[in-house]
Amino acid sequence: MALGEQTYGFFIPTVSLMGIGSAKETGGQVKALGASRALLVTDKGISAMGMADKIKEQVESAGVKVVIFDGAEPNPTDTNVHDGVKVYQDNQCDAIISLGGGSSHDCAKGIGLVIGNGGHIRDFEGVNKSTKPMPAFVAINTTAGTASEMTRFCIITNTDTHVKMAIVDWRCTPNVAINDPLLMVGKPAALTAATGMDALTHAVEAYVSTIATPITDACAIKAIELIAQYLSPAVANGDNLEARDKMAYAEYLAGMAFNNASLGYVHSMAHQLGGFYNLPHGVCNAILLPAVSQFNLIACPERFADIAVALGENIEGLSVAEAADRAIAAIRRLSASIGIPAGLKALNVKEEDLKVMAENAKKDACQLTNPRKASLEQVIEIFKAAM
Ligand SMILES: [Fe+2]
Repeated sequence: MALGEQTYGFFIPTVSLMGIGSAKETGGQVKALGASRALLVTDKGISAMGMADKIKEQVESAGVKVVIFDGAEPNPTDTNVHDGVKVYQDNQCDAIISLGGGSSHDCAKGIGLVIGNGGHIRDFEGVNKSTKPMPAFVAINTTAGTASEMTRFCIITNTDTHVKMAIVDWRCTPNVAINDPLLMVGKPAALTAATGMDALTHAVEAYVSTIATPITDACAIKAIELIAQYLSPAVANGDNLEARDKMAYAEYLAGMAFNNASLGYVHSMAHQLGGFYNLPHGVCNAILLPAVSQFNLIACPERFADIAVALGENIEGLSVAEAADRAIAAIRRLSASIGIPAGLKALNVKEEDLKVMAENAKKDACQLTNPRKASLEQVIEIFKAAM
């Protein structure tokens, strides 16, 4: 799957179901993939809400047995993955369903890679390390969000080093991605805010990526427009179904963008904060996004001016540089208005950890497509600017 210098692939699930009530199709989709016993990977919270049991019932009524594994922790670990592999093997499963946000999907991808290929999940860190397909895989999303239900990205924490391993592998793309806003209503405001800012970060980083294409640009800009319009109402009232529906489209579009244009230093650095302190991914991104954007500004001011327009800023009469500045100001304003902490200090991030996190950020695969190259000192400076 190596792509040439001038050619670009476009990776998405084979089937994507969107809209109110689409999760009702899960059973039919799992059955159509030839499954007879599926492992349903989820987290304890979703399991306690009864949502996993509902999906299990619905899939079993379509004629496929379901075994629930609710051991996907936030920032899922290699241990979570191998616990899931054991449950899959003990129950002789032949398919995987994930239900939740990024943690459930990423844990499920890790399980699938190990089931299909053998070995340890740590063997798959990097790009396209698998050689065999994973089992049939249906991902049902409950946050708007990480877009992990539709991407080839899988982020697993190494419990020895506390580093988040970036696994980018086309074979872990779900066969079917389901985004039903009915599963997103009622989620807490703080979760909606953090996951929505993660989606915005995906769109912004993909739009300024060095490997952006006309397809990813179209997805990214539309995602930014929708997030500017619908994230605040979704945070304000979690039962606002229209806002939830539009945010589901937005996160999916942002996923299409970054699944193919990749990301940049916001994610490379956020992965370190998540791995070191077990902090929520979306909050880390939201705080880092203005600081990294400020650093990136000189690389592609026109792109940031486009982002300002997509965020609803009026740039009439402004120079490109002034318009680009507006993008950063608008991101800060949105973050503050939905209750994202202003800096990393509020998350108890410590100055003495910045150097090692910066070193690891420079090794993270996501920074390869950042529009501006950064030295170690510059990455440390960006961390400091975000404190
Ligand atoms: Fe993300």
